Amino acid sequence: VCGIVGYVGNKQALDVVLDGLRRLEYRGYDSSGVAVLDGAGGLAVERRAGQLGNLEARLDEVGRDSLRGTAGMGHTRWATHGAPTDRNAHPHVDTTGRVAVVHNGIIENFGVLRAELERSGVELASDTDTETTAHLIARAYDGVDDHGTAGDLAASVRAVCRRLEGAFTLVVTHADVPGRVIAARRSSPLVVGVGEGETFVASDVAAFIEHTRDAVELGQDQVVEIDDAGYRVTDFHGVDVETRPFHVDWDMDAAEKGGHEYFMLKEIEEQPEALANTLRGHFVDGRVVLDEQRLADQDLRDIDKVFVVACGSAYHSGLVAKYAIEHWCRLPVEVELASEFRYRDPVLDRDTLVVAVSQSGETADTLEAIRHAREQKARVLAVCNTNGAQIPRESDAVLYTHAGPEIGVASTKAFLAQVAANYLVGLALASARGTKYPDEVAREFAELEAMPQAVSTVLGTAPQVRELARDLATAKAVLFLGRHVGYPVALEGALKLKELAYMHAEGFAAGELKHGPIALIEEGLPVVVVMPSPKGRAVLHSKLLSNIREIQARGARTIVIAEEGDDTVRPFADHLIEIPAVPTLLQPLVSTIPLQVLAAEIARAKGYDVDKPRNLAKSVTVE
Ligand code: F6R
Repeated sequence: VCGIVGYVGNKQALDVVLDGLRRLEYRGYDSSGVAVLDGAGGLAVERRAGQLGNLEARLDEVGRDSLRGTAGMGHTRWATHGAPTDRNAHPHVDTTGRVAVVHNGIIENFGVLRAELERSGVELASDTDTETTAHLIARAYDGVDDHGTAGDLAASVRAVCRRLEGAFTLVVTHADVPGRVIAARRSSPLVVGVGEGETFVASDVAAFIEHTRDAVELGQDQVVEIDDAGYRVTDFHGVDVETRPFHVDWDMDAAEKGGHEYFMLKEIEEQPEALANTLRGHFVDGRVVLDEQRLADQDLRDIDKVFVVACGSAYHSGLVAKYAIEHWCRLPVEVELASEFRYRDPVLDRDTLVVAVSQSGETADTLEAIRHAREQKARVLAVCNTNGAQIPRESDAVLYTHAGPEIGVASTKAFLAQVAANYLVGLALASARGTKYPDEVAREFAELEAMPQAVSTVLGTAPQVRELARDLATAKAVLFLGRHVGYPVALEGALKLKELAYMHAEGFAAGELKHGPIALIEEGLPVVVVMPSPKGRAVLHSKLLSNIREIQARGARTIVIAEEGDDTVRPFADHLIEIPAVPTLLQPLVSTIPLQVLAAEIARAKGYDVDKPRNLAKSVTVE
């Protein structure tokens, strides 16, 4: 997830591109860069690690006059392949410095492409997947790689795109082709802005909305050529395609948030993409693989105990993981709050795997927990959303969640990506340890791959949940009940409500009800119940059904999240929210969504700032 912008027109491209990047910085802030065509065969590129301010300081240093020209592009990066350094910042250029490329996404077959380039004698200057495309496009344009596209930049881009696997949106400029910018899209978003004597491409309309509100969304596997007179869109084979222009009527502030009032609401909607990106590229040759592994396979085989350490929502993702890892790997799993783990004396040795889950990769308690674990010779695997952060740097293995930057303080898409990544950890361990056959791992992975679609479906319940939220905004407290994997979902639902709506909210394991919490039930108290599938573990379903009856009999107002077609719950549900049928272990990926929406909408109804709840910070780097 990165922000990209391209421009051809009558203004100085550098100014337009920098303004655009400022509006897109929410999409990533690891590094940024610009490329400008001077119109006379020159291409100037500047890039810097860190926030946009670092790039601007660099531009002041070299003098902005050295980047004059009316066509150019820029990038703000959220690192995926390669640490967030100057060298890995975009744009990337080919060996002759005439082709520049910025990229948003992950090119899965970049290893093969890189090896092919190296065999042809090309020296690569960065660790990124992106750089390979700059060389390949230059070679296609020069006719070195014969695709029949020599001298035609758009055709060269199309030829290279046909070879790429994964998700990518590219913007390309060539010094020999002034006044023209080419962009291509597979998966990651791209829109064209159509102005008077100027044309734009960008990851979203926020980048150009101050210049034009007329836009065209690019479809999958399409290439657009822009110049100051307009645009032409084709598929990857050069066939012209029809486009659907639209008019943007959001204001500037809403545009950044994709038309939503808050980033969090946008991030809730981005969850299918966050899930798909997290899973992408992790099933290779019949096994699930991590991103970085500084451990021998034998070390993974020798693991005899797993601890998951994390804080807050990340901890809840670990609680979900316990059910899957124990089931798939036949390994004991303990899940512990990082702040507790480090101050007791946990029994660890070199055959213990400590899985540290952290969106930011900087959380002080989690960081200290892994330092403690490493001192005891335990192996540490980080599940992290931030490339190059301290926790992955100090770990023996890393699996990145590709949720992209999360601006809302309350975790939504990062949490869901953590749950998915934790399942991948389970399958990677099962692969390494041989507790599952490759075809079983393939089946489980395929079930995971179907989840983004199920999440899209459940997002359709948002209007219903919004209405319910308006009703619940005056409640004094809300309880959440679940069993099995529904229990951590109940905890997560309660945490979201506490932090966003400042309401008293508690999550309970439904089986504990009679051991105390049932005393809280009184007339009209809202209780959210996460029902397991009736087709999965029938015993869980019938036990929870009895629990609902018990609380309804005592006057509770029941809000039931249940699988579609589960008619047995209807008589006991004052409000029924239906979710798609999915495998039991994977249900948290769908049942969490209505609870996120509920908390956000109650907070909105109460007039609170959903993105910045009081007293909280996004990264907790102190204990
Ligand atoms: C809750 C939330 C927090 C974080 C926790 C851990 O919505 O966002 O509970 O999950 O502070 O943060 P990371 O994952 O960055 O270690």
